[in-house]
Amino acid sequence: MKLKNVFLLALSTAFVLTLAFGSSVMAGSADSCISCHEKVSPGQVADWRTSKHAAEDVTCADCHGTKHQKANDGDLAVLPSEHVCAECHEEQFAQFSKGKHNFGWTSLNALPITHVEPDELMEGGRGCGGCHNMGIKSEAQKKEQLDKGYRYQTNSCDECHTRHSFSKKEAQDPRACQQCHMGYDHPQWEMWSSAKHGTRWFAREAGRLDKNAPAPTCQTCHMPEGSHNNHTAWGFLGVRLPLPKDKQWAADQVTILKALGVLDPFTGKPTARLEAVKAVDLARLTQKAWEDEREKMIKTCAKCHAEKYARKQLEMGDNMLKKADRLLAQGIEIVAGLYKDGILKKRNAQAFAYPDFLYFLRTDYAAADGNSYKKLPDGTSHIEQVLFRMYMKHRMRTYQGQFHVNPDYAYWYGWAAMTDDLGEIQELAATLRATHK
Ligand code: HEC
Ligand code: HEC
Ligand code: HEC
Ligand code: HEC
Ligand code: HEC
Ligand code: HEC
Ligand code: HEC
Ligand code: HEC
Repeated sequence: MKLKNVFLLALSTAFVLTLAFGSSVMAGSADSCISCHEKVSPGQVADWRTSKHAAEDVTCADCHGTKHQKANDGDLAVLPSEHVCAECHEEQFAQFSKGKHNFGWTSLNALPITHVEPDELMEGGRGCGGCHNMGIKSEAQKKEQLDKGYRYQTNSCDECHTRHSFSKKEAQDPRACQQCHMGYDHPQWEMWSSAKHGTRWFAREAGRLDKNAPAPTCQTCHMPEGSHNNHTAWGFLGVRLPLPKDKQWAADQVTILKALGVLDPFTGKPTARLEAVKAVDLARLTQKAWEDEREKMIKTCAKCHAEKYARKQLEMGDNMLKKADRLLAQGIEIVAGLYKDGILKKRNAQAFAYPDFLYFLRTDYAAADGNSYKKLPDGTSHIEQVLFRMYMKHRMRTYQGQFHVNPDYAYWYGWAAMTDDLGEIQELAATLRATHK
């Protein structure tokens, strides 16, 4: 062990232990963890042995404390939060705290849908919560989880460098992002891996390109210089303030903000949800914040491409978003017209007689008592499910595919599917109007 590290380690270990257990640290108790767990959970101990932590004498007790010593008192073991990692990795902790990942848990819980779906998918970490366990939980959030009977998922640092190897190399592999950045509404993995940037990376991994051949990974573009602070210009929702200069586009973004419930659909005034959007950094709220992220990205592209080329590529992404918004706004207006004419009726917890994207596919707009799996009224909500799919699956793919240089996602899985959705919405609306009594 390097001398500097010995000193730091001694200091910080003492600090962590003092914080967690006062002065009652038992000397020598750390070794008992290993000898017993070598029998209880040998794979785990073997994994820890491969880590830098083992090499540097960061032991089980440094993270889990020493209170649990017997086979039947495992509940006394501390499950370490990010604050424990921070004692020795302050820099990464500080960067992470400022990044978008730090909002994962809070933004999940800000959505109405979260509170009408099974807890196993949230606190239990198999659905939304499996990916949104990103972010340092407040004491209140931890308590809420414990009260529901969920003890694990207290740490988000192990999402990219998994326990107990806690390896930097593993986190540098783009597959470290795959579990979460895939699928329905954010298939960045599929887009990157089947486009030229990813193809190059796989070819290089297989030894078919020289090991110095450039091949950008998720980390190259989104964690430049290894920074744990991640943001993008447009973000996930693809809306921003101030609104775009183009008049039609600005109007279309307003329509989308109404369907997100951020603007009152009838007065156009901000609702309480705007505060929630601000609190979890859901959209860039100033021109400067947007441009700073854009310029940072162009600097990264310009390491391998001409700057002008890169700028042009990203401008095309913006224009694709504009055109996708035109299609989506038409879809929203058709469904809003059905509410206006009394053909669709406001239900349960719905705030306005207007489509609300934050209920996802639950277009029965169940009340937030977690228990109201009501029968859909005469199937009339299906048109809203098509509208939601147009927004969440196909609009996302259109512009995300453009930004990730993936022709098929941008066209067939994105733009073409949006035009298909709009056709279906028009047809369903005509039928609903014709059959309405
Ligand atoms: C006498 C054997 C023994 C010793 C000594 C021991 N453990 Fe355990 N530990 C267990 C068993 C058994 C479990 C429960 C495993 C299970 O649920 O299948 C457990 C569970 C745990 C858990 C999981 C707790 C949870 O809520 O699921 C952690 C963390 C842990 N031990 C860490 C440690 C650390 C750190 C030490 C040393 C300070 C230690 N153990 C010492 C046997 C031991
Ligand atoms: C660098 C910190 C760190 C060290 C060192 C460490 N752990 Fe953990 N361990 C964690 C984190 C983080 C979790 C996940 C906590 C959560 O999900 O709430 C965890 C979870 C666990 C669990 C419960 C979950 C499971 O997968 O079974 C056990 C048991 C456990 N550790 C045992 C050990 C043992 C035994 C050692 C020593 C060989 C050890 N840990 C060393 C950080 C550490
Ligand atoms: C008691 C101090 C201490 C604690 C607590 C601690 N670490 Fe470390 N960690 C270290 C040391 C020392 C190294 C090795 C540093 C080096 O090689 O320069 C290290 C290295 C790492 C690395 C780089 C490994 C590599 O492959 O290069 C990662 C990732 C890491 N720690 C993550 C974590 C996480 C996540 C936690 C919390 C669950 C944590 N650490 C808790 C001291 C600690
Ligand atoms: C455990 C799941 C998980 C893993 C693993 C993960 N992410 Fe994320 N990522 C998320 C979630 C959830 C969000 C949205 C956070 C929020 O709700 O604000 C996100 C957001 C982002 C954003 C911000 C997009 C925006 O809104 O501007 C970027 C960039 C990003 N992740 C990149 C990465 C990269 C690169 C990796 C791999 C090194 C990675 N993520 C690994 C879950 C994950
Ligand atoms: C497979 C992993 C995964 C699942 C499951 C998942 N999400 Fe996400 N979620 C992400 C990722 C990754 C992002 C960021 C995507 C991006 O920026 O393109 C995200 C973004 C979000 C955002 C926007 C955050 C922001 O500020 O930009 C919200 C809100 C959200 N998810 C809520 C949910 C809810 C509610 C569920 C379940 C009904 C859910 N998510 C299921 C991974 C997941
Ligand atoms: C989104 C994935 C992701 C998450 C979440 C994450 N890391 Fe990392 N971490 C990485 C990547 C990628 C690297 C390698 C960066 C580089 O190339 O220098 C890294 C590197 C590290 C290193 C090694 C730094 C060095 O250069 O030796 C430490 C220590 C570390 N992370 C700690 C943490 C801590 C603490 C947390 C939680 C606050 C955390 N990480 C959360 C992806 C992640
Ligand atoms: C060559 C650079 C590059 C690579 C490689 C890359 N991205 Fe992106 N990513 C971008 C650009 C450019 C944007 C759009 C930025 C903006 O809003 O202006 C973006 C946006 C995102 C977003 C926000 C939503 C969206 O898709 O527009 C997430 C999340 C994300 N990327 C994750 C990933 C993940 C995960 C990987 C790897 C599987 C990856 N990216 C690979 C350049 C890259
Ligand atoms: C680490 C180097 C690297 C970075 C960073 C990088 N690229 Fe690339 N890019 C390549 C390589 C290599 C190719 C494949 C060779 C080629 O087609 O020029 C490529 C291909 C492309 C292509 C497809 C060209 C074609 O003819 O099909 C586009 C478009 C592109 N990159 C845009 C971008 C954008 C935009 C960024 C920044 C968000 C970026 N790249 C960042 C290395 C990089």
